[in-house]
Amino acid sequence: MIILKKIYPLQQMLQQLKNSGKTIGFVPTMGALHDGHISLIENSQSINDITIASIFVNPTQFNDSKDYDKYPVTVENDILLLEKAKTNILFLPAIKEIYPNGLAQVSQYNLGFLETVLEGFYRPGHFQGVCRVVHKLLDIVMPDNLFMGQKDYQQCMVVTKLIDLYKIPTQLQIVATQRETTGLARSSRNMRLSQQAKQNAAGIYAALSYIKNNIVHTAIPVLKNDTLKMLKDAGFQKIDYIEICNAKTLAPVEIYDSNIKLVALAAAFIEDVRLIDNILLN
Ligand code: PAF
Repeated sequence: MIILKKIYPLQQMLQQLKNSGKTIGFVPTMGALHDGHISLIENSQSINDITIASIFVNPTQFNDSKDYDKYPVTVENDILLLEKAKTNILFLPAIKEIYPNGLAQVSQYNLGFLETVLEGFYRPGHFQGVCRVVHKLLDIVMPDNLFMGQKDYQQCMVVTKLIDLYKIPTQLQIVATQRETTGLARSSRNMRLSQQAKQNAAGIYAALSYIKNNIVHTAIPVLKNDTLKMLKDAGFQKIDYIEICNAKTLAPVEIYDSNIKLVALAAAFIEDVRLIDNILLN
C-alpha cells in the first residue's frame, strides 16, 4: 500500500492510473477502522481497479469539541488493517493540507430540510463540516465510485445532495451496515464502550427491529413510546430521537402507509458515547 500525505503527489499518481484506464474507488474514513470500513474497501475492490482510502479526523464536522478530543485515533493499527485488506493507496493528510486557509467556514452548503432534522437538528453544523471535507476529498481524488456505510443514513443522503448540487461525476455506493453478533452496528465509537455497555448498546438495534416487526399492525406513536422505554431499560441515559421517517425525504411519518418507503432511525447515549443506527422498514 502506498501512503501519501500530500495532495499533489496523490493527484499525479491518480492521474497516471486514470490515463491507463483504471477505475478508482474511494473510501473516506476518520480512522479507528473496524470491519464496517473493511467491508467498504471490499465493496470498492469488487467494482474498481484501484481502491484508495483516506484517514482524516475532520475537525469541522464535530459540533462538540469534547467529542473531537475523545475521537479514537489508532493510525498504526488502521494502516495494518488497510494493508491486510490490500488497499492500494492511503491518503493521510494533516489538517493544514485539507484546510490551508484555516477552519472558518466562508460559504454554506444549501442542504435544505435535510439539515434541520435528526442529526442535523441535534448536531448543528455537523453536515456543513461533512460537506466541506467530502467535497474537498472528492475534488482531490475524483473517484468513479465513493463508498459510504448505511449506518450513517442521513450522511449518505447529504452526500447524495452534495454530488447533485455540484454535479460531481462520482457515483455514491451505499454499503449495508456491518453488525456485531449482538446486532450492535459496528462503529469507531464502540471502542469507547465497556464490555457491559457494548452488550447493552445492542438494545438500539433491538428497538429498531421491534419497529420493523410491528410497524404494520401497531400505531407509530405507540411504537415510539415502546421503543423509548426499551432504550431506557437497556441503559441508554439520553435519547436524542427514535423516529420513523420517509426514507427518501426524512420527513417524520405518523401514519403507516405501505406505499411509502420508511426508515427507522435512532440516536442515543450510553456511557456518554453517542450511538446512531437505522433500519429500512419496507
Ligand atoms: O463517516 C465518516 O467517517 C465521516 O463523516 C467522513 C465521511 C469520513 C467525513 O469526514
